[in-house]
Amino acid sequence: MADSYDLLIFGASRGLGLCLAKASVKRGEKVAAMVRAESDRSALSELGVTLIQGDAFSLDDCIAALRQAQPRRVISVLGGKNAAGRRIDALGNLNVIQALEASMPSTRVLLGTSLGCGEQWDGLAEPTKRMLGEAIRAKNEAEQYLKQSALPWMIARPAGLSHQEGTGQYRVQAQRDDAGNYLPRADVADAMLAILDQDERLYKAWTILGPAH
Ligand SMILES: NC(=O)c1ccc[n+]([C@@H]2O[C@H](COP(=O)([O-])OP(=O)(O)OC[C@H]3O[C@@H](n4cnc5c(N)ncnc54)[C@H](OP(=O)(O)O)[C@@H]3O)[C@@H](O)[C@H]2O)c1
Repeated sequence: MADSYDLLIFGASRGLGLCLAKASVKRGEKVAAMVRAESDRSALSELGVTLIQGDAFSLDDCIAALRQAQPRRVISVLGGKNAAGRRIDALGNLNVIQALEASMPSTRVLLGTSLGCGEQWDGLAEPTKRMLGEAIRAKNEAEQYLKQSALPWMIARPAGLSHQEGTGQYRVQAQRDDAGNYLPRADVADAMLAILDQDERLYKAWTILGPAH
């Protein structure tokens, strides 16, 4: 029989996703994560997170993960390229969204993308556009699809991520500004979990920035 989890995370083996798993477990939540066969599972296992094997390039794997976890909420922070150079940011996130549409359409979902997505593209400096353009265009595909879906959706666009300790200092805004362009992953994770639980944040994209000073 399927279990029922507070949160299912896609992209939790390291980085921001692992910080999200840590923060959610710390809140006393029951957390599951879909991880690839070759992913390093040690940190998640230590946290007591339930691991569901799957590859986000596969829609069937995403559907199976949802069916197994029966989550109350879903977060996807999938990003990067596989060993063959294939980028997950569009297709993997689209698979998560389509899996939700197919099997759990009333489950709240928070998609983590990046500062610079959507209408923020024009405000980026040219070197940033050159460096991040491919990833941002891919994430935009997922954002656009999610926005026209009937799912209860939210989007989080974090600024640059560091591995430093969390400070508890972050800003969540509808628009970006020119300050706080880097912040610790731990702070972004706290911000994302807070966004996820606020009904008034539904159906909007939120930018997560470091402190302004
Ligand atoms: N770095 C920045 O400054 C920055 C700024 C804004 C937004 N972002 C975005 O924030 C997100 C998190 O970034 P991060 O640097 O903390 O983490 P990351 O190192 O990009 O980790 C990505 C996660 O996605 C998983 N993943 C990748 N392909 C997968 C697949 N086919 N199936 C299942 N899982 C897969 C990875 O698992 P494996 O361990 O198996 O590879 C990993 O857990 C990314 O989407 C990134 O683009 C980053």
